[in-house]
Amino acid sequence: MARINRLLIALLGIAVLACPVVFALRHARAQTPAPGSPTSAASASTIPVETSWVVPDIDKLADDDWGRTVRYGRDLVAKTASLIGPEVSDPAHRFAGNNLNCQSCHLEAGTKELGLPFVGVYADFPNYRARSGAVGTVEDRIQGCMVRSMNGKPLPADSREMTAIVAYLKFLSSGRPVGAPTHGRGPGRMPELTRAADPAHGEAVYAQNCAACHGDQGQGQRAGALGDAQGYAIPPLWGPDSFNDGAGMTRLINAANFVHNNMPNGVTWQAPALSTEDAWDVAAFVDSQPRPHKAQLDRDFPNRLQKPVDAPYGPYADGLDPTQHKLGPFQPIRDAIKELAVRPSQAPPKTDHP
Ligand code: HEC
Ligand code: HEC
Repeated sequence: MARINRLLIALLGIAVLACPVVFALRHARAQTPAPGSPTSAASASTIPVETSWVVPDIDKLADDDWGRTVRYGRDLVAKTASLIGPEVSDPAHRFAGNNLNCQSCHLEAGTKELGLPFVGVYADFPNYRARSGAVGTVEDRIQGCMVRSMNGKPLPADSREMTAIVAYLKFLSSGRPVGAPTHGRGPGRMPELTRAADPAHGEAVYAQNCAACHGDQGQGQRAGALGDAQGYAIPPLWGPDSFNDGAGMTRLINAANFVHNNMPNGVTWQAPALSTEDAWDVAAFVDSQPRPHKAQLDRDFPNRLQKPVDAPYGPYADGLDPTQHKLGPFQPIRDAIKELAVRPSQAPPKTDHP
């Protein structure tokens, strides 16, 4: 198996050297976003995909206003719990509702390929967001993670913190054309299962591969003591100090790909440790555990036909079993949605008949 993989990598290498255009196109397809995912489909067809993975060197920035702001943004991403978490000493700076860091999910301060990176993100905003049914700015997107992944409240729009995070995101998009999709963004897209994911099997996978770090109750491991604002050495995956039930990580396609390409912590998409089946099942187990509730989730995705197939909460446009939205298989849902979208009953109501 390893030999076949090496052979494939070698062949791919030759293909890259021989034909960069074909390579770019292949990756464009491999990374084509699912409906509702961040990269807008419109831009993908017009501007070539950025296939290089170049992370600008933050150490090269001068110690001036700009450099200090970008570095503060990086610190906010890497040490969120210590700077704006629920345990910081100044109550006016308690914005996050849990003790995660942005980089608990946006790995290596948002610089890891297919580790939900921030590289190339700034270049893609503003964009249309299906979740709100409106065009949103990069600030809006950050607030989305503040109130869901961080289970907290929005940062004040004019705060030093918001400015710094946006500056850091802009810095990470240095040299990338506005609107150009970046290969390596997001959590990846492995093939889907033709069966429903199996949380019971996922529990066994979890015990074997995850519990040693994340804990048998998914509670993670604190860096210091309760209340000291040091956050986690290893973040919790469920329970009261985790992301809430409206967060992007509760969508199985996001979670399974993130786990496959990044977990156990340290693996890369080039050399994943779990089989794809184990990754789907363990992600289904994690996502079926209790976590904080976000109010008014029924207001998300006002156009139900644009709701991602794996949104784990209703209402849905289709009449399928809600469990299928949590666990898959997802292709039949896509097919059902496609059919609904062309049905005349979905057309705008006519007003000119008696
Ligand atoms: C629990 C995991 C988690 C944490 C913690 C988290 N995020 Fe996210 N974030 C996600 C996921 C998953 C997505 C992609 C979701 C989607 O659009 O389906 C995302 C998307 C984003 C995006 C858009 C990325 C893109 O490619 O378009 C930005 C910007 C962002 N997050 C900022 C932040 C910031 C800033 C913080 C900390 C204040 C944060 N996130 C904390 C999981 C997380
Ligand atoms: C070697 C320890 C280790 C192992 C084993 C491990 N993880 Fe992680 N995991 C981490 C660390 C550390 C982070 C956060 C990265 C950071 O803060 O830099 C993380 C982050 C995560 C996150 C996103 C953050 C969050 O709070 O949800 C998920 C989901 C996750 N791991 C799932 C898993 C699953 C599922 C497994 C088993 C297949 C697993 N991990 C195995 C250490 C580990």
